Parts: sequence; structure tokens; C-alpha cells
Amino acid sequence: MCGIVGYLGYREPKEILFKGLKRLEYRGYDSAGIALFQEGKIQVKRCLGKLSQLEEVIQEASYHSTPTQNTYIGIGHTRWATHGKPSEKNAHPHQAGPIVLVHNGIIENYALLREKLLSKGHILSSETDSEVVAYLIYDYFKKGLSFEEAVFLAIQELKGSYSLGILCEEEPTKLIAVRNGTPLVVGVGEKENFIASDIPALLEYTKRFMYLNDHEMVIFTPGHLQVKNIEGREIKKEINYINWTQEMVEKGGYQHFMLKEIHEQPQAIINTLQDRVSKDKHALYLKDLKLSEADIKNIRKIFLVACGTAFHASMVGKYLIEEMTRIPCELDLASEFRYRDPIIKKGDLLIITSQSGETADSLAALREAKKRGATVISICNVKGSSIDRESDSTIYTYAGPEIGVASTKAFMTQLTVFNLLAIHLGLTLKTLSLEKATPYVQDLVRLPYYVEEILKQEPNIKKIAQKFYRKKTFLYLGRGLSFPIALEGALKLKEISYINAEGYAAGEMKHGPIALVDDDTPVIILAPQDKYYEKVLSNLEEIKAREGIVIAIGSEGDTHLEKISDYFISIPKKSDNITPLLLTLPVQLIAYYIAVKKGTDVDQPRNLAKSVTVE
Ligand code: AGP
Repeated sequence: MCGIVGYLGYREPKEILFKGLKRLEYRGYDSAGIALFQEGKIQVKRCLGKLSQLEEVIQEASYHSTPTQNTYIGIGHTRWATHGKPSEKNAHPHQAGPIVLVHNGIIENYALLREKLLSKGHILSSETDSEVVAYLIYDYFKKGLSFEEAVFLAIQELKGSYSLGILCEEEPTKLIAVRNGTPLVVGVGEKENFIASDIPALLEYTKRFMYLNDHEMVIFTPGHLQVKNIEGREIKKEINYINWTQEMVEKGGYQHFMLKEIHEQPQAIINTLQDRVSKDKHALYLKDLKLSEADIKNIRKIFLVACGTAFHASMVGKYLIEEMTRIPCELDLASEFRYRDPIIKKGDLLIITSQSGETADSLAALREAKKRGATVISICNVKGSSIDRESDSTIYTYAGPEIGVASTKAFMTQLTVFNLLAIHLGLTLKTLSLEKATPYVQDLVRLPYYVEEILKQEPNIKKIAQKFYRKKTFLYLGRGLSFPIALEGALKLKEISYINAEGYAAGEMKHGPIALVDDDTPVIILAPQDKYYEKVLSNLEEIKAREGIVIAIGSEGDTHLEKISDYFISIPKKSDNITPLLLTLPVQLIAYYIAVKKGTDVDQPRNLAKSVTVE
């Protein structure tokens, strides 16, 4: 989970590379570096710490690029340490003789390769797998091969995942990039071309992108761009136009991307529902779902597989799909699914949910299921991502770029898509009557309005949250469709405030976790007036009997719940299928305002990265 950028063109690239890295910083931020050509020599600047430290280092006027044949070239990297602790020595770019490169991914056979290189007399100075790649290329280059040939042969020896941006001091007008297993996009400009780990890094300079597949290589030379496949044959690539604006990627006046993205949720839901609901709310159009009526009628079992927040969305999906279709759904964490030898029969359906479309465990689970004959659909936010391209069909969430590491609007749009999918499948199978589906669809369409209503409570939620920012542990409880939101609320708090939080099925408390409750434990209870309401009230009483602090999130107008709770946050009382989405807003805001009060790095929490593209 690092960020890489590269440039070849007519402009001095220092600022382009640095700003690109800034927009990729959410992918990793423990060290960073840049490499530029100066008077025919490659000058590397790198440092420990965030990009702000690198900025000081590269600001020296003496550090700038000089062109060769009117062509500027450079690469940059922001790191999330996998091999070797964060340090200047382990920061990228790495250099081996005339070869300089940046790398995102994990080389699984690097130790063996390193031994081989050391035995040949090479002296490697870092603890990283990336430096091994630089020396491997150099080892071939030293034998008289061209830069491109040396890269081509070296990557044949690599096992694992790698997106590489590579320069060679002896060929100062050529940049080579390779993609395998971790994301890499090519930005196509006018007399200039770019590489980056993600689209937001380049939006300021181009909206035209090529997506590289695994084992594909791109070679930039002045005014020219070539893509080659694993056999070394040139291939044609489609250029995609991405209509995201730079402003969509910037903070838009909010203190953090996360808060901006929480407030973008109404629009994200609107964008995700766009053209998918008939005017009379009686029909849904999931045009991107390539499942015929016959396919749907043949589904015997559905596997829902994802990681983190996407897993919680999948749990809501399980409840909704089973309720509306009566098809058994099996829910799995991707990291478990891919290794447990799952029992998949031909024709089973696998639904992979992923905001980034690049999560290594989820991609591996997709490949495992396909190998075993499953039909794979994905729910994904990034067109052209690996999971998108390897699925049989993808139902896109139109959340727009999500920069905050903590997923918010992507989660909300995933729940929106699961609603659409469950209703569509139920209507197709006639296990859901139109009479029952119509209010579900009506509430779904009105959801943006309901979300706006809840956001108006932000000051009240902020006040409540700030009372508890020093607490050491939180409990989140819910039943049925609220249970996944209890898990999601706990994850949000953990990942941005570093406070321990447990999400639990409320009915499970008596089997042990209630021992955690004392007068210093805030317990967030999700208690909408649904069919579990009475049961949840009893759980609330059990908490109060042990002097737990009860923060209840319940239906507006529920004066009883308000009376018996220490703090009360209300949501509109609507149909069950959208209640999980309504409950999500308060738990997102609680986590956000506790983290802000604690002063943690909300958009780039420690130890985390936005897209976990390594195992
Ligand atoms: C959620 O806030 C986290 N950032 C993390 O759990 C994330 O949901 C998970 O890594 C899955 O990412 P994906 O949706 O891009 O596959």
C-alpha cells in the first residue's frame, strides 16, 4: 500500500511529482522520496516521515530537473512499510548503479533473489524487497542488455505483487512502468505522460487514463507511449475518460476528507440510484448486472466476501438478500475465504464488495471462487480496478473518489446497492411482492433527504461524542440489521481514534462481554423501533443495571428510549431496509468527533492505508 508517481514530458516535474504524492499520501505515509535527472545524472532525495518533511528537502532551489532533448523525467514514492522499518535508507526511490525505481507491492521471493545478488558481489544497503528489484535489473543491464530488456528479464524472476516506475541514467528520455498485482494507472497527456497508483494523483493534469493489466509494461519516450504484454508484444489499450474533477478530490473547505465525505453521502446515494429506479418506483434497472432471469432462477447459493467496512456492508447484504429472495447466503472475510477451501458449486454466485477494487485478499478470493466455477459479481467504486475487470459483472457505487482512509460514503453506497440488488433479485424470483417492494424503493429514493435530516443533528452528536474522548473502551450493540452497523461503528472508532471498541450482537452480551461493562464504559446501543426493539430494550436495562453509560440511537419520537438512556440520538422511523443506512450517520460522526478531539490524524490514521493491496 504505497503510492507511486512518474512523469515524462515537457514540464519540470518536481511539483507535479510532489503534488501527485500528496494526493496519494492516504495510501502510505511513513517515508517518501523523489528522483529527477539533473545534468544527465539521477538525483534522489528521500526522507523518513510524511511528505511535509520531503517538501523541505526538495524545496532547495538547487534541486531541480534539467531536460534531455527537451524532455523532463522523474519518479516519486510515498511509503507504507512492508519490508524494513520506516527509515531514510528503506525509503524509495532505490538505486542500483544507473537503475532507479519506485515500487508498490510485495516481492515474495526477495530473500532468495537477494542472496543470489549478494553472491554476485552486489552490495545492497536497505532491508527492502524493492532494492532487490533495482539490483536485479542492474544485474541484467550490466551484461550489456538494453534498459527495456533488462527490466523485461528481471521481472520474469519476480514472485509477488509489484507496480514499478523505473529510470535508467544511461537512457535519460525513457521511463518504464510495470504492473502486477497492485494498482497502476497511466495518465495520457498532451506531449506528456504520467503513471500513478491512483487516479486522484493525476486529475489536475489529465482526465484520460489507461488501465494496465497484470504483467503489462508501459514505455514512455518523448511524445510516445508503448504498452507491451508479458510476451513483450505491443498491445493497444483503450483510453478512458474520467469525469472526476480536481475539486472532488480536494477537501472542499472541510477540516478533513472524512468529514467532507460524510457530508457527500446524500449526493453519493443519489448518484448511485441514478437511472436505476423507474419513475413509478415499481421497477429497478441494474443494467450493469449481467445476470439473466434464468441465471437468477438458477442461483442455489450466494457467497458474500469482503474485508473491513465492505464486509459489514456485505453482512447487511446477507440479511436483505435472504429476506427478499430466500436464497441462502454465506458471509466470509476475504482473508478467511481464500484459504478455507470453500465448497463452491458451478453456478453459485459470489458477490465481492470493495471500494478500491484492489484489496489483495478480496481479489484473491474472487480468483479462488472463479477457479471453482462461481459466477462473480462485484460491488465496486473504482472503474478499471482489478476486481472490476476480473468480475463477470460489476454493480458500481458512484461515491466518487474516497480519500479518507476510514470508509464512509463508499459504505453508504454499498448498502444502497445491496438494497437495489436484493429487491431486484426478490422481484425477479417473485419471492418479494411488488406491494412489499414499493415502500422499500420509495424509502430508498428518499434516503438522501433522510440522511440530510440526520446530518442536521451534527452539533448534538459532536457534543455527546466529545464527552467521551478520554474513555478507554466502547461497546456497540445491535440486533438484526443493526448488528453490522454496531460492528461498523466500532471499526470507525478504532481506526481513527485508536480507542478500543467492540461491536456485538446485543443478544450475545450475556454470554460474556457484559463483564466488560462498568461505570466507565460508554455503550452505544442501536435501538430503532423494528422487530428487535423490545429485546434490545432488555439489553439496555442489563447495561444500566451494571452502571454502563448508555448512548442510544433510536427512532425519532421514541420518548421512552430517550428517557431511559443517558444520551439519545434519533433517526427517522422508516422501513427496515434503509434503517442500517440511517444508523450509520451517527456512528460515523461519533467516531469522527472523538478522533478530532483526541487530535489523531483522522484522514491518515497510524499503521493504516486506504487500500490494502498486499496480503
Ligand atoms: C474501512 O474504514 C477501512 N478503511 C478498511 O476496513 C476497508 O474497508 C477495507 O480495507 C476494505 O477496503 P476495500 O473496500 O477497498 O476493499
